[in-house]
Amino acid sequence: MSENKVYIETYGCQMNIADSELVEGILNTEGFKSSKNPDEADVILLNTCSIRDNAEQRIYGRLGNLKKIKEKKPETVIGILGCMAERLRKDLIEKKSVVDLVVGPDEYRRLPEFIDTAFNGEKGIGVKLSRTETYDDIVPYREDGLSAWISVMRGCDKFCTFCVVPFTRGRERSRSLDSIISEIKTLSDRGFKEVSLLGQNVNSYSDDGNDFADLLSASAAVDKSMRIRFTTSHPQDLSDKLLYTIAENENLCNYIHLPVQSGSNRILELMNRTYTIEHYLNLIEKAKKIIPGVSFSTDIITGFPTETFEDHLMTIDVMSQVRYDGAYMFKYSPREGTKAYKMNDDVPEETKVKRLNEIIELQQKVSYEINQELIGTETTILVEGFSKKSDQFLSGRTDTNKVVIIPVSEEIAAGDYVKVKINRATSATLFGDVVEKKSAELEKEKLTA
Ligand code: SAH
Ligand code: SF4
Ligand code: F3S
Repeated sequence: MSENKVYIETYGCQMNIADSELVEGILNTEGFKSSKNPDEADVILLNTCSIRDNAEQRIYGRLGNLKKIKEKKPETVIGILGCMAERLRKDLIEKKSVVDLVVGPDEYRRLPEFIDTAFNGEKGIGVKLSRTETYDDIVPYREDGLSAWISVMRGCDKFCTFCVVPFTRGRERSRSLDSIISEIKTLSDRGFKEVSLLGQNVNSYSDDGNDFADLLSASAAVDKSMRIRFTTSHPQDLSDKLLYTIAENENLCNYIHLPVQSGSNRILELMNRTYTIEHYLNLIEKAKKIIPGVSFSTDIITGFPTETFEDHLMTIDVMSQVRYDGAYMFKYSPREGTKAYKMNDDVPEETKVKRLNEIIELQQKVSYEINQELIGTETTILVEGFSKKSDQFLSGRTDTNKVVIIPVSEEIAAGDYVKVKINRATSATLFGDVVEKKSAELEKEKLTA
């Protein structure tokens, strides 16, 4: 058994956070000790992201810093995990001498073996993608806390033309419902209060006749005082059954991340998003009827090949119609190997930036307005701990995923559900006063005027 110390740094999406916990689980079983300090670690792993070029540039920058550690302690093993490992494979080892091993997302079981090889001075590479690997039986390493991530499926079969994920994560596959439910039970016993179910397209979850709505109902039933969240929903596959399931279960959060990407049907088609804006807007309307108080966030790309000013205006139009609670907005970044890579990246950089700034500004205005309307209303938050800025304040989240700051009080601790009245708001944060501490049993609170 190894007694070596391993330090993991995680980049990219929540699925990578969940994967790093899996990796720690695998390595701890082999005797590795987790460390929070790269300087004292025997093994340094970067779990990487390839989604846009700037994500990869960050990793190259970080490898530059790690070189110094390796110069001081040449026996340190440095490994690249995650999407960059899969995308760049042996290039990483050949071009970056500091890298000892490259292990893709479906080969983590073999990590102890690769690390052993690296300790013996040989470089290792494992980048096979699997059609079946879901790490069902691996217990992820998690410190005690309130909130946990669980990957319920891996890979993606959608092949949006801009996206590298189907190439870095492979084919779509679902984890068994039973194993997910038993993991949620364990988390509930450990005192966790919130679980986020993760997948690139959770709505196509399927296990033995159970769809994602079935998985959500089963998850919600484990512990009614536990909040269940999920991400990401693809607009093509969001079923009515799913909407009703959210509406019927008190502890399924009224919050849907529904990436639209563009407001123009022509661009959506070029992106292979497989829905029209009309379908998308209908879906939003339907969800608002079925789930009163539901909130939405989205992802948007500006400057996709051939995007005209008119296309851009259509995106602005959709944002103004939906009035998202939040949006993640990006400049198009060409990714080698994808279909869009073969299209001419013809929107000039300054136009991409200008359009991006315009939609960011619009979203900030809308978020501000939505939050102003909440002043005077009451809502229930799950308290997460001290606020980032001061230990005189506590921070929590609404069911709709908004951050609320309240004054510290002796009766209130992290993990409590508290009813608050909103008294002030910015575009990103709500501020409130405590109305009452709630019992553990969650009661679905609608924002009431
Ligand atoms: N599975 C999720 C998204 C995962 S990637 C979904 O289908 O919505 C997160 C976001 O990154 C995407 O929604 C998209 O907006 C953005 N993105 C992906 N590839 C990109 C690229 N090549 N350039 C810019 N943004 C990109
Ligand atoms: Fe990428 Fe599209 Fe799959 Fe999302 S659904 S991961 S954007 S290919
Ligand atoms: Fe990045 Fe891979 Fe996630 S490319 S966004 S880490 S699936």
